[in-house]
Amino acid sequence: MKDQAESLRLKLTSSEKNSRTKAIAVVSGKGGVGKSNLSLNFSLSLAKSGSSVLLLDMDIGMGNIDILMGRTSDKTIVDYLSGASSLKDVVLEGLGGIHYIAGGSGLSRLVKMEESHVQVLFEEMDTLLGGYDYLIFDMGAGINEESLKFLLSVDEIFVVTTPEPTSIMDAYATIKYLHLVNPEIPFYLIVNKVQTSNDGKDTLQRLSNVLKRFLDREAISLGSIPDDRTIQQAVSRQIPFLNFNPKSAASKALEEITTRYKQAQFTEQSSMPKIPFVTKLKKFFFER
Ligand SMILES: Nc1ncnc2c1ncn2[C@@H]1O[C@H](COP(=O)(O)OP(=O)(O)OP(=O)(O)O)[C@@H](O)[C@H]1O
Ligand SMILES: [Mg+2]
Repeated sequence: MKDQAESLRLKLTSSEKNSRTKAIAVVSGKGGVGKSNLSLNFSLSLAKSGSSVLLLDMDIGMGNIDILMGRTSDKTIVDYLSGASSLKDVVLEGLGGIHYIAGGSGLSRLVKMEESHVQVLFEEMDTLLGGYDYLIFDMGAGINEESLKFLLSVDEIFVVTTPEPTSIMDAYATIKYLHLVNPEIPFYLIVNKVQTSNDGKDTLQRLSNVLKRFLDREAISLGSIPDDRTIQQAVSRQIPFLNFNPKSAASKALEEITTRYKQAQFTEQSSMPKIPFVTKLKKFFFER
């Protein structure tokens, strides 16, 4: 028994070389608030500034990242999880130099898989994912048993809300849930579909206040994105809004969010070595 634990520990430390990779999950309480558009355009904006990015569509059964880029994907994450394809083969070339893995309905399989099979999957993930500067996980709305393991393994969580009180309440409930399971995880707040910039500021302030008051938690406000018809047009044309109209209010707001995120990274940098995403994911899977 002791030997087994020892060998698992050795395997876990093998991935520490991948600690430069930053894993970010984009979540919301309420659906349809703009997570997928944000994940995609934020990824493009990071890539534009020279980072290597892998965007993972984790919206089980309703993945649409490829559609938003005008691509069709012959392989999805399901091909990998079912053993039909290697991880390398399901990583596809997206726009602007980003790589992506298309969504499909298969995450629940990972939870039910044999431990030895999961171990093999993790070895492959470790090698491949560690090669990127950023892993961006576009999550489905809400949290379930499968997505929780991923959410507890990422380095940072972006929470997207709109200014609607229902959306703010759902964002708060999501943060509260994740905070109670992992009080360490950093939260970043983004408000989408705002009518005025004050609308955005008010929403960020309200959410920050309730987090402070009820959870004694700080969150970093990254900013807001206006309700902009450009986004609907870009979605219809299947072109990311950043490429469709780089001068639109939405694109400018997105670029500001990226700048603010990078500034926050710079000031938040801790001297503690961070535990890589795959190492944490392994831990949560083997603890079941
Ligand atoms: N800032 C915006 N201004 C105007 N329309 C927007 C904006 N952001 C998103 N939309 C519209 O909202 C729709 C939903 O956006 P998106 O698919 O990114 O949301 P989501 O949070 O990923 O949804 P789901 O919860 O279903 O995964 C888009 O198709 C687009 O038409
Ligand atoms: Mg989505």
